[in-house]
Amino acid sequence: MLDLVAEHAPYRGELLAAFERVLDSGRFVLGPEVEAFERDIAAWIGVPHAIGVSNGSDALLLALQAVGVGPGDEVICPTYTFFATAGAVARLGGKPVFVDSAECCYNLRADQVAAKIGPRTKAIIAVHLFGQCADMDPILTAAKKHGIPVIEDAAQALGAKDKGRQAGTMGTLATFSFFPTKNLGTLGEGGLVTTADPDLAEKVRKLRVHGAKQKYFHELIGGNFRLHEIQAAFLRVKLNHLNSALKKRQQNASTLIESLREKWNAVMSLGACVCQGQGEANNGKPGTVFLPFSCHSGLGEHTWNQFVVRVLGPGQRDALRERLNATGIQTEVYYPRAMHEQECFGVVKEAFPVATRLSQETLAFPGLNRTELLQKLEESLV
Ligand SMILES: Cc1ncc(COP(=O)(O)O)c(C=O)c1O
Repeated sequence: MLDLVAEHAPYRGELLAAFERVLDSGRFVLGPEVEAFERDIAAWIGVPHAIGVSNGSDALLLALQAVGVGPGDEVICPTYTFFATAGAVARLGGKPVFVDSAECCYNLRADQVAAKIGPRTKAIIAVHLFGQCADMDPILTAAKKHGIPVIEDAAQALGAKDKGRQAGTMGTLATFSFFPTKNLGTLGEGGLVTTADPDLAEKVRKLRVHGAKQKYFHELIGGNFRLHEIQAAFLRVKLNHLNSALKKRQQNASTLIESLREKWNAVMSLGACVCQGQGEANNGKPGTVFLPFSCHSGLGEHTWNQFVVRVLGPGQRDALRERLNATGIQTEVYYPRAMHEQECFGVVKEAFPVATRLSQETLAFPGLNRTELLQKLEESLV
């Protein structure tokens, strides 16, 4: 799906120099590289506090723990997301309360969040899926009205914006992943928590090291959620190139959308944002392919961590996947089962019709060079 060797080739010299710097320093965990990276990324995002952590899953756990989520607490989140979003709630003994997805951007239905807020709601997680921000205003308004913190799960959306506001600056806290497939990836694992609140930042920093500010004096029950120096050093190298890498991704996505629209007859765009209402997509003709839709935020605000199309109708996505596979185009399904249908969360009786259909109909294209991908697509789809 993604050629990570090719991706790193232009920075090879810089990455090797970073490796040597850390090797020669003798400092390998939470040292000057992590501190420098935290400063740099906080400035890049435009947020007062950034805390480097072990990975994006632990970042979610830390953010939820920082706002006091514990056994019996409810946390509202989308059902159509990566497991870690809901998993982090359950790891703390909380209960994920699911919301259906919008048919335009596949993010959580912002208008359904307010209706789910109840006496046990402790937090809301808004996931910015595939590199595009969720529609934050209705979510922030509902949360403010009830005094509930919002956590942005921005694992896939570093650099994405919602009406000019950067992912990671809108919620009470936000979390990021630096898994190698992300727009800014380590050569291993890494994550980040951001916040404007100095007290929450301090709490996350403590929780990252077993709840102790002073070594061996534990004020909170935390864990080992530390970021490694070597990963921070690599991230600093790649952060210097992030603006141009994101621009290239956006250009590639526009080219791909235009070309597919022109050359592949079946492809059409949904054409309208339905983040706050019902769309028509579920009634479309089987086999119709929807291009990814850059929703309320405009092309420049989507960071295209994944390029995801939707193929309407039972079995149609899998049939297309097989056809593409036969011509050497690898694709991936994010995600074949929504969270409300996962065995580990028990039986959830409520239906989430859009999320269920998305899990049967979406297909992510590989992160190939777009010219190469287009060529292969044309060959495979005539
Ligand atoms: C939406 C979302 N949340 C959380 C995570 C977890 O991040 P990590 O893999 O770094 O633990 C991911 C990773 O893919 C993700 O996509």
